[in-house]
Amino acid sequence: MEAFSFLLFCFSLLMAVSIARDTINTLQSISDGEILVSADETFALGFFSPGTSKNRYVGIWFNKDPTKAIVWVANREKPLTDSSGVLKDDTNSEKEDFVRQRFDYPGDTILPGQKLGRNLATGLNRRTTSWKSSDDPSPGSFSYQFDIDGYPQLVLREGTTKRFRFGSWNGIQFSGAPQLKNESVFRFSMISNEEEVYIVYWSVDSSVHQRLQTATDGFSQRRSWRGGNTGWTTVSHIPVDDCDYYGKCGAYASCDTNRFPMCNCLDGFVQNTTDSSCGCVRRTSLSCNHSDGFVKFSGLKLPDTEGTWFNTSMSFEDCRILCVKNCSCTAYAALDVSEGPNSNGCLLWFGNLMDMKVMTTSEDIYVKMAGKDVEAIVQKRLPKFKKKKQKITTAVIWVLSSGILILCLAVIIYRWEMRKKGKIKEERESDAINSQHDEEDLELPLFGIDTGILEDGQEIVVKRLSKNSSQGFEELKNEIKHVSKLQHRNLVKLLGCCLQARERLLIYEFMRNKSLDFFIFDCEKGKLLDWAKRFHIINGIARGLLYLHQDSRHRIVHRDLKAGNVLLDDELNPRISDFGLAKK
Ligand SMILES: *[C@@H]1O[C@H](CO)[C@@H](O)[C@H](O)[C@H]1NC(C)=O
Ligand SMILES: *[C@@H]1O[C@H](CO)[C@@H](O)[C@H](O)[C@H]1NC(C)=O
Ligand SMILES: *[C@@H]1O[C@H](CO)[C@@H](O)[C@H](O)[C@H]1NC(C)=O
Ligand SMILES: *[C@@H]1O[C@H](CO)[C@@H](O)[C@H](O)[C@H]1NC(C)=O
Ligand SMILES: *[C@@H]1O[C@H](CO)[C@@H](O)[C@H](O)[C@H]1NC(C)=O
Repeated sequence: MEAFSFLLFCFSLLMAVSIARDTINTLQSISDGEILVSADETFALGFFSPGTSKNRYVGIWFNKDPTKAIVWVANREKPLTDSSGVLKDDTNSEKEDFVRQRFDYPGDTILPGQKLGRNLATGLNRRTTSWKSSDDPSPGSFSYQFDIDGYPQLVLREGTTKRFRFGSWNGIQFSGAPQLKNESVFRFSMISNEEEVYIVYWSVDSSVHQRLQTATDGFSQRRSWRGGNTGWTTVSHIPVDDCDYYGKCGAYASCDTNRFPMCNCLDGFVQNTTDSSCGCVRRTSLSCNHSDGFVKFSGLKLPDTEGTWFNTSMSFEDCRILCVKNCSCTAYAALDVSEGPNSNGCLLWFGNLMDMKVMTTSEDIYVKMAGKDVEAIVQKRLPKFKKKKQKITTAVIWVLSSGILILCLAVIIYRWEMRKKGKIKEERESDAINSQHDEEDLELPLFGIDTGILEDGQEIVVKRLSKNSSQGFEELKNEIKHVSKLQHRNLVKLLGCCLQARERLLIYEFMRNKSLDFFIFDCEKGKLLDWAKRFHIINGIARGLLYLHQDSRHRIVHRDLKAGNVLLDDELNPRISDFGLAKK
């Protein structure tokens, strides 16, 4: 609370940020260069310029902080352009009210004792906004605030777009941020009643200074400083992983960074094929009569509470009945689980369930489903000990098959080593013969630039090399000759070329399935590649590379191997492209 009173005091000074020298009361003013220190010497107030900026701002920092990290700025959007600024004491009671209000806008940092949240009676929204950059304290694009459309939840936004939800408060923790908890010196309270919703924190040890900051990149950082010259350390930050990003998996899906793919439909739901954002839809639609039921899900961050309905005193059973009765209700959960699961209150969802993440929480959510789907899931979840057995069997199979695989690899490598010894000899001989033919022209078909389609109607891909290439024409011809001789089923075949009218066109066979990146970075298409196919593709790429780098006569190092350069033919066999002539 000391921070608060000092800030209040400062505010009374700030009432008259004046540039005009003739209005200064010399006894009670601070000019640029002077510093005002709080009675307990914790905070300092004065003029500063952030980063490389030349603008002058009035700000507050921890007095003994060697880094002078700014925790509050008076004139975020109204910098002074020179150092003629003066702070003047102009206190009177009317202005004190104004001061109080001003302090209700925290800037990018929440200090101990300062509230982050809403006054529901007055509509006051105490939120934090990031700085635009380290040189510019004016409000940037990231903000944290309590959303109150539905059950209150703490949300990070970029502009108006949700980026991360701390989630709703369940009496113990925020559903999406279990890392925010009472620990060592950091203590906080979450207050939620009819009048106010806010979070406030304090230090148990007064020698440890703390601040919560919304950084310019949107990360919420909890930082602490134990005094001395050590500077601030980041204790924790949020978001933590990919699954924290809002709506990563779309509706009715849960996100789990420990699984691949990360996004999985909830039981009873399937991929929404019409929607590119990859959410999920019901296997069977609801019929809205007594045939519908509920399926319990545990260990999930509760979905977005925007548009939800809640009652803090309702019993859990009444909550269920209410959801059964209302056709548009899609799920229900207890509000407060501090006295055990499903103990208190009622939270109802009406729309799609968005933004769920697999995590350690003590909350359960009950999702409404068609009776048929409920039965299927109950069946699926029932025989636990059978599943254990199955797991053991798969483990045994896995161990056996990997053993066999290693054995096979060893044999292949051994045979290959033996063959290589023989091959080198062979190669020396054939090189001697080939050198006689070097003067021959390209064996590759040369096409005229006016050729429209190939005679046999084969579809092709044309790659146009930059006209500005520093490579000489002869040099290119030579390289094409080399590349065209590389033939392997995991390399894209160069069908021909056109070296006419200063154009340098390469003609390759056409791959219907485009490239690998088209699959693995698309969550719909990614599902077409099961593990067997993926393994097949990895093997193919390895074989192609081995050939390029080692087994071919014209060893070529692929300098740009990436998913975009691995093409897939009709049977999803991988073909490496862009070798040899890469990056030209
Ligand atoms: C943290 O501990 C304090 C007491 O030290 C208590 O008042 C507060 O409610 C606790 N906060 C949470 C979230 O449990
Ligand atoms: C599924 O996709 C369609 C088409 O984009 C969309 O209208 C619908 O709302 C989606 N369903 C869900 C449950 O998100
Ligand atoms: C519920 O509605 C579905 C169709 O909407 C119908 O097939 C089913 O018989 C109904 N069940 C009951 C118990 O009314
Ligand atoms: C909440 O539930 C309690 C108990 O069922 C009920 O008395 C009260 O009217 C409800 N409040 C609202 C706002 O619906
Ligand atoms: C279902 O709940 C919604 C949201 O509270 C409400 O608008 C609607 O009137 C309810 N429908 C019924 C049939 O009670």
